[in-house]
Amino acid sequence: MANYQPPQRKKSPYLPLGDQQGARFYGKDILSVKQFSRDDLDYIFGVAEEMREMVERIGTFDLLKGKILANLFYEPSTRTSSSFTSAMERLGGSVIPISEVRYSSVAKGESLPDTVRTLECYADVIVIRHPEVGASALAAKYARKPIINAGDGVGEHPTQALLDLFTIYSELGRLDGLTVTMLGDLKYGRTVHSLARLLTLFRVKINYVSPDILRMPQEIIHELKEQGVPQEEFDTLDPVIGQTDVLYVTRVQKERFENQDDYESVKGAFVITPEIMDKAREKMVLMHPLPRVGEISMEVDEDPRAAYFRQMEYGLYVRMALLAMVLGKA
Ligand code: NCD
Repeated sequence: MANYQPPQRKKSPYLPLGDQQGARFYGKDILSVKQFSRDDLDYIFGVAEEMREMVERIGTFDLLKGKILANLFYEPSTRTSSSFTSAMERLGGSVIPISEVRYSSVAKGESLPDTVRTLECYADVIVIRHPEVGASALAAKYARKPIINAGDGVGEHPTQALLDLFTIYSELGRLDGLTVTMLGDLKYGRTVHSLARLLTLFRVKINYVSPDILRMPQEIIHELKEQGVPQEEFDTLDPVIGQTDVLYVTRVQKERFENQDDYESVKGAFVITPEIMDKAREKMVLMHPLPRVGEISMEVDEDPRAAYFRQMEYGLYVRMALLAMVLGKA
């Protein structure tokens, strides 16, 4: 075996037969919403719609039979990790769950590049959530297999933004001409960072409502301004609730605060109640990436405009679509 050369594989070594648009994602990482065009979204939502029909008709099917996903979570997660697991298993694949990195070699001081180079020996795709901005991009630099960013600190959460947009489209039937109001922790909330960026592909107006210390980062406001997106900042919801088509509420990200007194000063700043919903449009969609910790009162749950539980289900179909696409089966 002295002359044995290990195969030097690159990402996307060959295109699968058939559809070229789907082929575009084959073997690719999903790191930021910046990598998607409007055409890509059309395609992803089309596949997600097919996934939804299949799940409703037969529940589980064999599209990714034999494929393995590694779910590597360095931060807590309920929805993202379990929806990726469910997505993979509904497609006939299986999952290596590493959600307690304390019990993996990470606890022995293993670096992220080494951890992903290990997991890709066993898995075909790796989903990563990590507290540092840029962690998934770093992992992708070292990995041959596709890396999917499931949240990198206060950076991005691209699959959440895709499912958020799919939710808006499914609930309202359009994405152009909408007024989207983001409320809560816009500084540390990565879901709103990704969603705001993804919305630049559409004709929308964005309102930001937050306490002063939790305003949308200037860098993102600037990016959107360059793309010509009309944006306005407010410290109360009242002036904009009546003109809002999508109200996107976020949790104050306690774990990101350096000073806990600052957290205490803003934690209950906004709570959506039935009285507030009375001022909202009849066809408004109320969304939240969840978990909620008091930002939306439970009395609002029965309101037909409350879409946050449906939003989780849309997420399953979008993640099924993304897995099928990066593994060359969509
Ligand atoms: C979000 C996250 O982790 O960024 N959760 C999620 O993925 N649905 C939002 C949050 O934690 O507040």
